[in-house]
Amino acid sequence: MTEGKVSTMAADRQHLSTAVPLLFLLGGLSAFPLGPEKSAGVSCGYESCHPTKPDMLNVHLVPHTHDDVGWLKTVDQYYYGDRNDIQHAGVQYILDSVVDQLLKNPDRRFIYVETAFFFRWWKQQSPAMQETVKQLVNEGRLEFVNGGWCMSDEATTHYSAVIDQMTMGLRFLNDTFGPCGRPRVAWHIDPFGHAREHASMFAQMGFDGFFFGRVDYQDRARRMLAREQELLWRASDSLTPPLADLFTGILPNGYNPPEGFCWDQSCDDPPIRDDPDLEDYNVNDVVQRFLNIANSQSKVYKTNHIIMTMGSDFQYENANLWYKNLDKLIRYVNARQASGGRVNVLYSTPSCYLQELHRANLSWALKTDDFFPYADDAHDFWTGYFTSRPALKRYERISNGNLQTCKQLEVLGGPFSSTGPFGQDDSLTLQRAMAVAQHHDAVSGTEKQHVANDYARRLADGWRRCQVVVSNALAALSGSMAERFYCDGLNISVCPISESSKQFSVSVYNPLARPVVWPVRLPVNGTAYLVSDAGGRPVDSQVLPVSRATREVRRSRGFAVNELVFQVRAPPLGYTTYSVTLRTAGAPAAAVQRRAAASIQNKFLKATFDPETGLLSSFSNLETNQTVQLTQNFYWYNASDGNNSASDQPSGAYIFRPNSSTPFLISKTAKTEIVQGSVVQEVRQWFSPWVSQVVRLYADSRALELEWTVGPLPIQDDLGKEVITRLDSSIQTGGVFYTDSNGREVLQRKKDFRPTWKLRQSEPVAGNYYPINSRAFIKDDEDQLTVVTDRSQGGGSIRNGSLEIMLHRRLLYDDVRGVGEPLNETSHVFPDGLVVRGRLLLTLDRPAAAADTHRPLAQQEVLQPLLTFTEGAPKPDTQLEFSGLQAALPPAVHLLTLSRWDGDSVLLRLEHQFQSWESDVGSQPVTVSLQKLFATMDVLGVSELNLSANQWKDEMQRFQWRPEEEERPLLKPLEDPPSWEVTLKPMEIRTFVLRVRLR
Ligand SMILES: *[C@@H]1O[C@H](CO)[C@@H](O)[C@H](O)[C@H]1NC(C)=O
Ligand SMILES: [Zn+2]
Repeated sequence: MTEGKVSTMAADRQHLSTAVPLLFLLGGLSAFPLGPEKSAGVSCGYESCHPTKPDMLNVHLVPHTHDDVGWLKTVDQYYYGDRNDIQHAGVQYILDSVVDQLLKNPDRRFIYVETAFFFRWWKQQSPAMQETVKQLVNEGRLEFVNGGWCMSDEATTHYSAVIDQMTMGLRFLNDTFGPCGRPRVAWHIDPFGHAREHASMFAQMGFDGFFFGRVDYQDRARRMLAREQELLWRASDSLTPPLADLFTGILPNGYNPPEGFCWDQSCDDPPIRDDPDLEDYNVNDVVQRFLNIANSQSKVYKTNHIIMTMGSDFQYENANLWYKNLDKLIRYVNARQASGGRVNVLYSTPSCYLQELHRANLSWALKTDDFFPYADDAHDFWTGYFTSRPALKRYERISNGNLQTCKQLEVLGGPFSSTGPFGQDDSLTLQRAMAVAQHHDAVSGTEKQHVANDYARRLADGWRRCQVVVSNALAALSGSMAERFYCDGLNISVCPISESSKQFSVSVYNPLARPVVWPVRLPVNGTAYLVSDAGGRPVDSQVLPVSRATREVRRSRGFAVNELVFQVRAPPLGYTTYSVTLRTAGAPAAAVQRRAAASIQNKFLKATFDPETGLLSSFSNLETNQTVQLTQNFYWYNASDGNNSASDQPSGAYIFRPNSSTPFLISKTAKTEIVQGSVVQEVRQWFSPWVSQVVRLYADSRALELEWTVGPLPIQDDLGKEVITRLDSSIQTGGVFYTDSNGREVLQRKKDFRPTWKLRQSEPVAGNYYPINSRAFIKDDEDQLTVVTDRSQGGGSIRNGSLEIMLHRRLLYDDVRGVGEPLNETSHVFPDGLVVRGRLLLTLDRPAAAADTHRPLAQQEVLQPLLTFTEGAPKPDTQLEFSGLQAALPPAVHLLTLSRWDGDSVLLRLEHQFQSWESDVGSQPVTVSLQKLFATMDVLGVSELNLSANQWKDEMQRFQWRPEEEERPLLKPLEDPPSWEVTLKPMEIRTFVLRVRLR
């Protein structure tokens, strides 16, 4: 136990002013001080729970509302109760009404979840109302659960954005309410399947337990029989237990009230009519129905405590209806105790319920896999949303990279970055836009079209404002006040400055803590350019014609005829600048050869093509001398329209249901063109008017790039289409493949198999799809073929040696899960259907070394360098290169967060990016010195926090839970005390507040 340090450390933390080594002179063992909730004369959290009766069945009624941060309406429309013609829902009225009703009876309880909404409401309250609400929180009558900005999606979110959005919500709660505002329980009642990495993060955020509503129907049936709906989730194979252990409960009725007991204004169940003089007296009937439900529910859970969620989507707008009836229900059921009734009903919260489970001191079933995919019936697999809205998914991922760059530059550029020559701004708008985009109907792609547009608009607005920050910071660091231009359309060869300018500079900012080599590709109209690096040395460059596919996808948005390509080497956490000048007497652009492609190669890799079909045919790693047979092609599944004898379920935004397990081939052959030069070699493949691809190898790249362009998907034939690319290899996979969880740990997937129950497979394709967040791989003893993706996608391995990834979907029917629209994306640029472009990166390695390549590759894909442009040649005194670090961090260490905290302090997260079993080299523990980290800042003080930065690390006290398999309780693993030297073990993330001074 490390409790002894708590009080002395706390004293120091208030000003974060003492240099670290001093901290360790203090300490020694003392009794753990009273919890903060008691010491301030208040009683919240576990202290404030209503008493229960040990010899009875205790029914915990949890009044709650589920408020989506955007779905059928935008987040603003939901807040204000606008557009009630779409859905009757107004969060401001819910909070008004609930507070009012809580004040009427101190026994009543309410939980609130989504801080994005609560924050809006709080800002608008009077000081007197704020005091009242604080009082309710301090007494545990209003309790926050989960507490992130939103309730994130679990399949399609990247861990870095999830940690950010949880940090934002939880920090607001702590700043506003102190310790009584800290949620004890994570609460994901609606997400459609549950990721192991989410559980791991929640454990590291200090949550005592986790509840959710949706679980596969077969899994639930077995768990009910075995009384295993409550379990201990061991959510990491690398972190030492119980670091990533999370007690997990599956709620009895989704998140809805039991049948017949919905007393919201949106429901029709009969109220309790308790005047015996009136005709309709129904108390006995209500009590009896309730007891029946309680008794049958208790048969499928382990203890003499059960939980009932009394609420649902946007309920409690007129909270009086609910509370008036709940007061009566409690009174009349408990009245039966006088005549021998054995049921005790109480107002409760998830944490009060959790506390009772903990007190039961039982051991719980241990789970180490995850809860994907989720099916609510035999033909209803929620595996379509892994890919739904692929353009929004990519935009969200790019926005995360831009946000991290913006936050880093806010720190490195100092005060100048928020107020400088380009204006006054900060990263907050983009932070909030990213936080709402993590919601389970946002990046998931399951919202209405107008709501998807709203999420994208928010991200664009945030990025526009971050550009001011980036320009200011780069001006401060470079000493150049030249105007900076941004080109967000480079993936479709659109960039006004490079298209028209004869001379310009490109600054490349690299948000990673290690140097990267990155291919820059710019639309130009000249045929030869002189490119030189920050030291004035010429750099090899190549000019090649813009492809037909690119001209078609960019439409009228750009006019370049060529692309200029060169590789840049960018320093860690810093930038470098390249100058580009048009050569007047230039060589012509590299010719495109319309011949059968044979092969392309660089010093690391070689890709060979079949001269007959134009398809990829083999892939080699020249360093390790490995070759696999590899064909790749594009197919589409015909989406079920619901007219089917087995089930009337159509494919839709949530659900993937192909009409047949055999996909249609789009084309047996590809027309190919080949371009070869010293910087890049590429084979351009044309499959159909709506599918094309470029297979590319840059000179210094360790990955083969497959840049796909898909759309507009034709629907004149009235068939919904779900387009995949499939890699068929000679690797012997035996039905096994691997996918990552939220961009972190990798899990094994086996065809037609679930680790915790005996699966009856009813959908041979959709039932074998899993979320791919950043990578998937197949392997045998010799070879591992890894695919790194640029966004979240769904995929599976349906045949031996093969890996398929769903790229795009266009559907004609709604899938009856509430969104009420078919997933049929169009826009003003693409009235004929959305065209989507993206890329997959392929690597081939020995299994024991594959992670050494794919880990850094995936981080580089998430945190891409940001290019900014200035007109003309740089002024002579401009600083053309800068690194914020004294030295690159070791390869195993990823700098996950660097952002402003408050005053003179910054938030820093360092992460070990390897799993313990993954790499002989990469999986070793590694030590970093905080003092010697930054090049331009002195670190004066350090304190360590939990993962969500809302609790000091040494104050973390989680419930300990015992798994069934193990006899003795686990001891808290020894943790390194905070010091300047930080050691990271595989998959560890450590979070610090540093007090810094710019040099
Ligand atoms: C949480 O809030 C309390 C009270 O305002 C403060 O003392 C504490 O330092 C905060 N914790 C963190 C981790 O910021
Ligand atoms: Zn929801």
